[in-house]
Amino acid sequence: MSGVPRYLLAAAIGAMLLSGCTSPPGQPREGSEPLAPNEVMDFGKLYTENCAGCHGVEGRGGAAIALANPVYLAIADDATMRKVVANGVSGTSMPAFAERAGGMLTDKQIDVITTQVRSRWSRLAKVDAANLPSYAPKSAGNVSQGEAVYKTYCESCHGPNGRGGPQGSAITNDSFLALVSDQGLRTFVITGRPELGAPDWRGNVPGKPMSDQEITDVVAWLVSRRVQNPGQPYSVSHYAQHP
Ligand code: HEC
Ligand code: HEC
Repeated sequence: MSGVPRYLLAAAIGAMLLSGCTSPPGQPREGSEPLAPNEVMDFGKLYTENCAGCHGVEGRGGAAIALANPVYLAIADDATMRKVVANGVSGTSMPAFAERAGGMLTDKQIDVITTQVRSRWSRLAKVDAANLPSYAPKSAGNVSQGEAVYKTYCESCHGPNGRGGPQGSAITNDSFLALVSDQGLRTFVITGRPELGAPDWRGNVPGKPMSDQEITDVVAWLVSRRVQNPGQPYSVSHYAQHP
């Protein structure tokens, strides 16, 4: 550089700016060719374009739960996440992303997303795995027990019968229950939405974490509200796919 006269350098830069290109015509700069959509392997780009609209910037939550939630990352293993992202959750707004399921992402891209959601975001906090509820329910759950569980842990915020209260929205109405899966409810009860002031399974009643069975039962009760509600857009059997 030092050997090149200043005016020549300036002229060269000027020419580059005018041509709008830093390489001679016909010789694209390395890395400047746009990647085909199925060749994108950059996590930031994949996440921003496909997930952030619902799960929030940096996984911090939006219309759908935060994925950068340490409790979520502790209960859901890689296979679970991959399956949900590949196939979506039918009956909800969670789309299927795998090409074979009608989506736009290759298996490799789905792997990039799911493994990096974990490696980037589970570092945020460690969760004591000892008393962690299981991701999937261990039984069908008991609806009448669930009603009692609701009164103990949820009613203070979500009001009598889940019709909504001063600190929590209605969660037993058609418009909510028709668009959430059974597992979506369970996941929510376990993870909460700390960013919205919704407690996780440990925080509904301070010092009194819910047991796995109580979680299963309260979800069974919520699901029973959906099944009893007339006018829902989906048939009951539709939900039977999501035990
Ligand atoms: C249009 C909104 C939308 C988009 C886009 C979206 N999601 Fe979701 N996602 C949801 C909803 C809603 C749920 C909850 C579904 C339910 O009720 O079970 C969900 C659930 C999930 C779950 C499962 C939570 C559980 O219970 O185990 C994961 C993991 C997930 N999404 C990851 C992703 C990833 C990764 C992307 C991008 C590749 C993505 N989502 C894009 C709306 C969306
Ligand atoms: C300390 C108050 C509080 C308690 C206790 C509480 N929640 Fe919530 N919950 C919230 C808040 C705040 C939100 C987020 C905003 C909203 O939807 O009202 C929320 C959201 C939810 C949602 C999602 C609603 C939506 O529209 O996306 C569900 C489902 C839910 N809670 C279920 C429960 C269940 C079941 C219990 C009892 C096991 C419970 N909550 C206990 C405050 C609470």
